[in-house]
Amino acid sequence: RNSPSQSGVFHSAVDARVEKFTESISFDHRLYAQDIRGSIAHAEMLADVGVLTSDEAAQITTALALIKGEIDNGDFQFDEKLEDVHMNIESALVERLGDVGRKLHTGRSRNDQVSTDARLWIRDSIDETDRLLKQLQIAFVGRCDADIDVIMPAYTHMQRAQPVLAPHYWLAYTEKFQRDRERLADCRRRVNVCSLGTAALAGTTIPIDRENVAKRLGFEAVAANSIDVSSDRDFLVEYAFVLTMIAEHLSVWADEWVLWSSVEFKFIQVPQQFCTGSSIMPQKINPDVCELIRGKTARVIGNLQSLLVLIKGLPLAYNRDLQEDKERLFDSVDTVHRSLDLTASIVEGATLNIESINLRLEDGFLDATTLMEYLIGKGTPQRTAHHQIGSLVGKAMEKRCRLAELPLEDFTAVNDSLDKSVYDILGVERAVSAFRSYGSTSPEMVKKQVVRWKEQLELS
Ligand code: ARG
Repeated sequence: RNSPSQSGVFHSAVDARVEKFTESISFDHRLYAQDIRGSIAHAEMLADVGVLTSDEAAQITTALALIKGEIDNGDFQFDEKLEDVHMNIESALVERLGDVGRKLHTGRSRNDQVSTDARLWIRDSIDETDRLLKQLQIAFVGRCDADIDVIMPAYTHMQRAQPVLAPHYWLAYTEKFQRDRERLADCRRRVNVCSLGTAALAGTTIPIDRENVAKRLGFEAVAANSIDVSSDRDFLVEYAFVLTMIAEHLSVWADEWVLWSSVEFKFIQVPQQFCTGSSIMPQKINPDVCELIRGKTARVIGNLQSLLVLIKGLPLAYNRDLQEDKERLFDSVDTVHRSLDLTASIVEGATLNIESINLRLEDGFLDATTLMEYLIGKGTPQRTAHHQIGSLVGKAMEKRCRLAELPLEDFTAVNDSLDKSVYDILGVERAVSAFRSYGSTSPEMVKKQVVRWKEQLELS
């Protein structure tokens, strides 16, 4: 087995430390299936254009399929001396086929191999990310019917603001993850471009047929500029960004549910299978999985940052620096995929503590804004109504009671257009029913949205 730095122009062996420092096989072995798929397409194309005989191409593709089987079964010995996944597989091929194997690398370089492998790998990975996002959306939408009558406080500045239906929260996350799915679909278009055939960077004198290869690999387009594409990692950084956005959304959710599962809130019970205990405090059931989903967001953000810094100011075209992209990418994918999968199970299995939510639901004047809008409806300008209801809230605070418990005199004292019909709109339940606008938490609106989501996610 020969590596490119053990023969030819080299007259001294590389320093012993260099192999360990420069190898990528310890992580890029994850690209083996894509590498072999790309090589098979390349060999078949070379036969189509007459650079290989069809018998040579058949020998190569058969041997590559056997090598893939060995790797699948764990029977293949990767060798660090051979640097990367591309050299390991090619060497195994040459070992089997001799000179026929030595012909495979005609008209291509490792630079376009690594780019093609990454594109093929990311394309599959994007499809898996999308499946996991959909599974999570289904978990949220799946809760909506059972929770449709549950009213919860919603917050701004972490202060009680307005009442909402629990499914309004669930669909809020469903929307966020839908945008992530759209970002993925858009990113996938730029991933799904064939880079194979740019050779080292300038193209090749061999009469290759790049359309042929692209079609075999299911790519939608062929990259038009060989310098551009051999230096391009935009598609990889873009995917890392979409993964970061997903991690951000998961982190917001996890943070909320950690709070909600505290004694202080007592809104929700995270299933015990997704909690762990304390080594000292016997009573503890900690939401560790949610905490770690929040915590691991840090590394996903860090990976994106590393990638952005990695490509900054790199001269065209390929530079070995680019090898550093894969560990960051794999780590983000693994972290986000595991987090998405766990989140779906937690969302599905959690129970709302309805009693405890209801116990304090009338605290915090969640109906104050509805009351203000009721006054606006009676002809009072918004600024005035805001001021008047503010003073009513002050009065209720003084009396340590709710707005609905104030006597009618207090209402008429601030605005004489108020009469006893005011009590028909006070209280959290009535406040929720009073919402009208599109996208609001009005029960009718939320039910329509649930129906829409069920259709969109093919649940009905
Ligand atoms: N292991 C390299 C990478 O991941 C593959 C390309 C190496 N090309 C080269 N000319 N040394 O980027």
